[in-house]
Amino acid sequence: MDHLLSAAQKGQKPEFPADADTLEYAQLLDSQDKLGHLKDQFNIPSKSSLKKKALDGTIPGESNTTSSDQDDQTPSIYLVGNSLGAQPKSVKSRISAQLETWASVGVGGHFTSMENSPLSAWQDLAESCAAKSLDLVGASSAQEIIYMNTLTVNLHLMLATFYRPTPQRHKIIIEWKPFPSDWYAVQSQLAFHNLSASDSLIEIQPSDPETLYLSTESILATIDEHADSAALLLLPGIQYFTGQLLDIPKITAYAQSKGIIAGWDLAHAAGNVPLSLHEWNVDFAVWCTYKYLNAGPGAAAGLFLHERHHDRDGKVKNRLAGWYGADKSVRFNMEKEFVPSPGAWGYQLSNPSAVDLSCLDAALEVFGKTSMKELRGKAVVLTGYLEVLLKRLMNEGRGAAPFRILTPESVEERGTQLSLMFTGAKGKEVLQRVSKVLAENGVVCDFRKPDVMRVAPVPLYCGFEDVWKFVKVLKKGVEES
Ligand SMILES: Cc1ncc(COP(=O)(O)O)c(C=O)c1O
Repeated sequence: MDHLLSAAQKGQKPEFPADADTLEYAQLLDSQDKLGHLKDQFNIPSKSSLKKKALDGTIPGESNTTSSDQDDQTPSIYLVGNSLGAQPKSVKSRISAQLETWASVGVGGHFTSMENSPLSAWQDLAESCAAKSLDLVGASSAQEIIYMNTLTVNLHLMLATFYRPTPQRHKIIIEWKPFPSDWYAVQSQLAFHNLSASDSLIEIQPSDPETLYLSTESILATIDEHADSAALLLLPGIQYFTGQLLDIPKITAYAQSKGIIAGWDLAHAAGNVPLSLHEWNVDFAVWCTYKYLNAGPGAAAGLFLHERHHDRDGKVKNRLAGWYGADKSVRFNMEKEFVPSPGAWGYQLSNPSAVDLSCLDAALEVFGKTSMKELRGKAVVLTGYLEVLLKRLMNEGRGAAPFRILTPESVEERGTQLSLMFTGAKGKEVLQRVSKVLAENGVVCDFRKPDVMRVAPVPLYCGFEDVWKFVKVLKKGVEES
């Protein structure tokens, strides 16, 4: 494992031996994995819990489960952390701490940091989560980060501040297949400013329609083409469909050199790949916390606002403000004058959900047990292992596996996820069969209609044997089709 990790740390692709497709080899890597113990921090759905249709008071993995069939109690192979991350075990105790705080001291919970509680007072929770996220996104201080609302709301707030179209500069540059919410947000912002998408929205097309690859050159060329008329660039750190990781620092610097604001949707990048948002001079970024960060469905989203844009005198004209953005020293004074909290904190609107932030706090605690560097090392090896097994399957027999890997080959251009596109006359039919066989065998993957399956072996709770088993079941599904 060490030699694989050291190749990964150098940004090289790890090379696997001829016997890599044996169960023994997968188990050997798991036995040498220094992060393997982190899986114990999570409640992974079991094969039987996935079939639940009613609550029965049991949590998979806890001793209170009732099924007599031991095999059904085994954890599923959970490869959808790119959609909804697994539940950290400590979420339960944190929610209990909040219930006790609320029941015991009522409104005082806003200001009282209870002894023996793992959590800050309610009004400090979002900021304490920000302070725990410096390594996660590469911020220079906690004030560059805030957790609030959801990704799309935060995106609108950032567009309200940064997208100030003029007759000369009014275009927004995006990519051809943004996540629909980004698309709707941008379109509605244009409409809000009485602009039309046909005049003011520029879509970067894939360099190759087969692979859907977005080359950095084509992105820079689009920026060049609209250098005088573009106001803002909004791109995904990792493209949700193909899993391609874009060159955030290079694209950011290039856009800014042309006077264009660079904003990033990091929904698929935060907690997945190392980020250095401060050093890369990113203007703003937004991310949700329910994927690789494991904070639960709809949990509070993140926002990064570079220190360069911090409001030093309370005079950001285009900020949409609310009372929780007011500095804590005056927040409860009920004054009409808005005295903002520093940096990104001043963009808070409302009193956030303490329960929601408690889940996030639990999730961040797990990240605190390792580092993005270590996680990335394992992820490169784990995803590399998945790729090698898939390629061997594709080349097996008559080389007739009916799918190809959409995600770029290069380690620098991808995170954890690999997207498989099912091709050929029977491609969609095979995918349907495969999805059924995977579900029957307790493997949870994500399907994007009509022909793509996304597989994300998240290093926090997936291992090499999981990947090995996934490929074995996938093979079964392909052969049965
Ligand atoms: C790339 C991307 N952007 C935006 C969103 C929307 O996030 P939210 O529901 O927090 O607004 C998602 C959700 O999955 C996403 O994957």
